[in-house]
Amino acid sequence: MKTVTVQLGERAYPIHIGEDALQQLPGLIEASGQRGAVGIVTDSNVGPLYAAQVEALAAGTGRRVITHAFQAGEDQKRLARVEEICGTFLEAGLDRASLFIALGGGVVGDVAGYAAASFMRGVPFIQIPTTIIAQVDSSVGGKTGVNHPLGKNTIGAFHQPNGVLIDLRMLGSLPDRELRAGLSEAIKHGIIADEALFAYMESNAAAILSGDRAALVYPVERSCEIKAAVVAEDEHEHGARANLNYGHTFGHAIEAVTAYKKFLHGEAISLGMCAAGHLSEALGMVGPDFVARQRACFEAYGLPVVWPELPVEETLAAMTKDKKARAGTLKFIVAARMGEVVQRTDIAPESVRAALEAIRG
Ligand SMILES: NC(=O)c1ccc[n+]([C@@H]2O[C@H](COP(=O)([O-])OP(=O)(O)OC[C@H]3O[C@@H](n4cnc5c(N)ncnc54)[C@H](O)[C@@H]3O)[C@@H](O)[C@H]2O)c1
Repeated sequence: MKTVTVQLGERAYPIHIGEDALQQLPGLIEASGQRGAVGIVTDSNVGPLYAAQVEALAAGTGRRVITHAFQAGEDQKRLARVEEICGTFLEAGLDRASLFIALGGGVVGDVAGYAAASFMRGVPFIQIPTTIIAQVDSSVGGKTGVNHPLGKNTIGAFHQPNGVLIDLRMLGSLPDRELRAGLSEAIKHGIIADEALFAYMESNAAAILSGDRAALVYPVERSCEIKAAVVAEDEHEHGARANLNYGHTFGHAIEAVTAYKKFLHGEAISLGMCAAGHLSEALGMVGPDFVARQRACFEAYGLPVVWPELPVEETLAAMTKDKKARAGTLKFIVAARMGEVVQRTDIAPESVRAALEAIRG
């Protein structure tokens, strides 16, 4: 088993990665200092597969264990679910001495993390991520929250977990499309911070996609290391943490104009990174070889690299709306070379439009 530490002083926490990672759960529960009951949050797909194992490990510490499962899906990432989770746990007598466990993908992690941040004004929680997106990205870093009809992730809190337990065997039950989409975030970590990771993703697509766990260990570990380092440097995204959003300004707008239905998050981000690559090239930051290399890698994972029906003006409007909602400037993360990105706020709308045109194929 490998352990990566998120260095946040007194709030530092471990990410345990390996087949015996779950065995660390009782120790993490004890180390939290919480003596009360344990509330597990999961969804309707993950619960039947893995909840019993997690319940047994938590119950082994002598604590009462209550599980709340909600219907799987991004459309469930809303305040109503947080209220229901709190309701189940209040009825079961959970209190300030309790601890939550998020068992599932990014949706469960975000909803359960936000419920933990809010319940009794905040109780500790442990992340057990079960999708590749959650294992390489969302379970690390403490961003929690839900969507509002007027915007994705617009209600939330920073609430760091007490620990993250990653068992790659859980990916065995993940649908193939979810696996491919999630891997776009691991490829992204290579593009923004580590050319060697990108090269590994380039060379090992077949083994990774075949479900070979040995091939997945390195990208999961390295992604966690990269994200942990960025979060330790800039927990609340005042600077370097925004680099993790490479491709996301474009990708979020693509998700918005498709009402979050056509593409999975990782697929929209693949398209977004292709657009960001074209933008980087137009700015003279990288050459056409960079754009081609990125594209070939996404293609090797079956990720979308062009979308001929892309509604350019609508997508531009979605970006502007997002900017207004966040009362900020439109920030683009552009590539300086493979393994390094920079932040730019001086991008002309014509350049953004041209980048969107470029991914229409
Ligand atoms: N907090 C952050 O920093 C952060 C970062 C990136 C993404 N996110 C959020 O994460 C969400 C996307 O995450 P996701 O792709 O994990 O979505 P998800 O949680 O909806 O999981 C995808 C699907 O896979 C199922 N599933 C999960 N694990 C499984 C397993 N082991 N076997 C079988 N099925 C399984 C789920 O039930 C769901 O149907 C988005 O809401 C996004 O905003 C958050």
